Amino acid sequence: MPVKRVAHETRRSLPSGWNVARRAQPDMILPLSVGLVQSNLENLEAYLLDVAHPESPNYSKHWTPAKVANAFRPSAESVATVREWLIEDGSIDASRIVLSKSGSWITANVTVSEAERLLGTEYFVYEHSEDGGEHVACHGAYHLPETVSKHVDLITPTLHFDAKVRRHGSTDKRSAPKTGLGFSSATTPKIGGVIEDIFTDLAHCDETITLACLRALYDFVYDPVAADKNSIGVVEYTPQTHNPSDFDVFFGNYSKAQVGERPTLVSIDGGFLDPEGDPGESSLDLQYVLGLVGSKQDVLLYQTGDDVESGSFNNFLDGIDGSYCTFEGGDDPSQDSVYPDTQPGGYDGPEDCGNKPTAYVISTSYSYQEADLTTAYMQRQCAEYGKLSLTGITFVYSSGDSGVAGFDGSCLTEDGQQEQGASRFNPTFPGGCPYVTSVGATQVVPGHSVEEPESAVFQRFPSGGGFSNVFPRPSYQKAAVGGYLKTYPPPYAAGVFNTTGRAYPDVAANGLNYSVVLDGEFRLVSGTSASAPTFASILSAINDARLAVGKKPVGWVNPALYSPLISLAFNDITNGSNPGCGTNGFAARPGWDPVSGLGTPNFLKLLPQFLLLP
Ligand SMILES: *[C@@H]1O[C@H](CO)[C@@H](O)[C@H](O)[C@H]1NC(C)=O
Ligand SMILES: *[C@@H]1O[C@H](CO)[C@@H](O)[C@H](O)[C@H]1NC(C)=O
Ligand SMILES: *[C@@H]1O[C@H](CO)[C@@H](O)[C@H](O)[C@H]1NC(C)=O
Ligand SMILES: *[C@@H]1O[C@H](CO)[C@@H](O)[C@H](O)[C@H]1NC(C)=O
Ligand SMILES: *[C@@H]1O[C@H](CO)[C@@H](O)[C@H](O)[C@H]1NC(C)=O
Ligand SMILES: *[C@@H]1O[C@H](CO)[C@@H](O)[C@H](O)[C@H]1NC(C)=O
Repeated sequence: MPVKRVAHETRRSLPSGWNVARRAQPDMILPLSVGLVQSNLENLEAYLLDVAHPESPNYSKHWTPAKVANAFRPSAESVATVREWLIEDGSIDASRIVLSKSGSWITANVTVSEAERLLGTEYFVYEHSEDGGEHVACHGAYHLPETVSKHVDLITPTLHFDAKVRRHGSTDKRSAPKTGLGFSSATTPKIGGVIEDIFTDLAHCDETITLACLRALYDFVYDPVAADKNSIGVVEYTPQTHNPSDFDVFFGNYSKAQVGERPTLVSIDGGFLDPEGDPGESSLDLQYVLGLVGSKQDVLLYQTGDDVESGSFNNFLDGIDGSYCTFEGGDDPSQDSVYPDTQPGGYDGPEDCGNKPTAYVISTSYSYQEADLTTAYMQRQCAEYGKLSLTGITFVYSSGDSGVAGFDGSCLTEDGQQEQGASRFNPTFPGGCPYVTSVGATQVVPGHSVEEPESAVFQRFPSGGGFSNVFPRPSYQKAAVGGYLKTYPPPYAAGVFNTTGRAYPDVAANGLNYSVVLDGEFRLVSGTSASAPTFASILSAINDARLAVGKKPVGWVNPALYSPLISLAFNDITNGSNPGCGTNGFAARPGWDPVSGLGTPNFLKLLPQFLLLP
């Protein structure tokens, strides 16, 4: 009987740099992994709103990790359907089929010809034009019987390619960063020269941002009282690391009492402080988070990946989330580093899997373009941010430093390819995931004081912002975003940006000319890379105050941020825009906008609002 097949995933274009080299050998072995659809995923947003909507009676009644794992475990029907398909359509002997412990993945080693028959596709070997690296993937699309398709999230290896996590902001220190899985070799340097005069007053915040400037801009004065209960973490991907002695030069000038302080290293998949690494991102993030949360609060540094393969967001998630790691979760060996890494100098220990501590606020200043990844991959990872948020974690991400364009200025063609000179806006990931809090960048206007309103950043880089092509607009932002589009309709033809998509950023914070010590010298470092850790530090203080009075941390904070009382506690940013793709991008306007989100935080106004919540 002929089976009706449907295209399960499609890829319209190859990622840049990859070209077809040849057909894959028919007898080559592929470790085929079928990621099963999780149960209840359609209820994820409702579960989250129940614990995160400020008007819910269950606000902050977070779930245990076990409850989360149980709620989303794939159904027995999904497992049975996929097994039967492999056995009957693929003639794969049951003894070759392995089900992961959690029941989320079904794997089997199959030959290329078996995979081609099962998936109605053709496998090729692709070669990268820069480094000659090879990658096996199928072409265009793969197909599943309709009855199987609805039980499957994604299958690997299929259409997914190595994608690089891009760092936002900073660094020109070492001009040729190592090419690891996680790193782009083409990041725009956003480091100014060496700073000659170290100011500690507030008179120069329009030239150089310091801890004191940020405290003044955001009314952020707070001494932790529940530091032992609270936690905050910063994620870095090797070879982005820091030189520990730089902290002492930084604190020696800006926060004497903190000289000698260091973050607590949490090594994931062999992550270490690589003395040969690039110090821009990590020094920026950690000098400011440590400085802003103060001496009493320990700060976790999730250093992810060795310096051969580095790591991806999934490698980090695996480390803190046992229900997501290789056996059970969303990894794709073509996009996520595989550990043990047997290459010379690689980390050959076991892959970290749920054995690392979580933190209530986790700040990350790296990102992809949505167009770099497949939809299923993004949806699966985004759902995991949501599931982890159910347990009380807040994920804070930088929104990108290229306005409405991609990192290298590329934009999207009508059929979704990234090209220079194309006209459609090119959104970042995971900025468009509704379960992360996306932070854009502002700046002090030259000649203005910290008392005057900031502008959307316009010197050095434009703040990332826009509308996801993958994730629909979540309920919490419908009024804010709908209001913007109606009151200030952007002057763009249909298709330039996705009017129904999840809009980002959610909030903003200063991102220009932070004074950071890199290898003993003060330098100006800029990017939404700076904005994310600043916002994360302020959220962490809010968590501290809530924990101190016996309340729970804020967890998935977006519904609360957009609620009427809390959104009014932001400094509205109404000047500037985020150009890209040959346009002015979007304009910052009163209320929420896709440049500065709700605005920059005012801690003294936010704190009482969050303390009023249950
Ligand atoms: C709150 O939690 C209780 C107990 O888990 C549950 O029965 C209820 O449906 C939840 N939601 C609301 C809105 O009360
Ligand atoms: C596939 O083959 C590899 C290498 O021989 C082996 O380590 C792995 O366990 C096999 N997987 C399955 C599902 O049989
Ligand atoms: C940032 O630094 C650059 C280079 O020193 C300078 O031209 C610019 O005016 C500074 N802007 C702000 C707002 O700090
Ligand atoms: C302040 O920074 C300078 C570098 O500009 C450094 O030489 C000096 O040691 C620092 N001060 C302290 C007290 O650490
Ligand atoms: C717009 O976003 C929605 C999700 O909200 C998506 O389904 C749709 O494909 C997107 N349109 C384009 C042209 O990418
Ligand atoms: C507004 O933004 C523009 C750049 O878009 C900048 O030139 C101007 O100085 C800003 N003005 C104020 C008052 O923020």
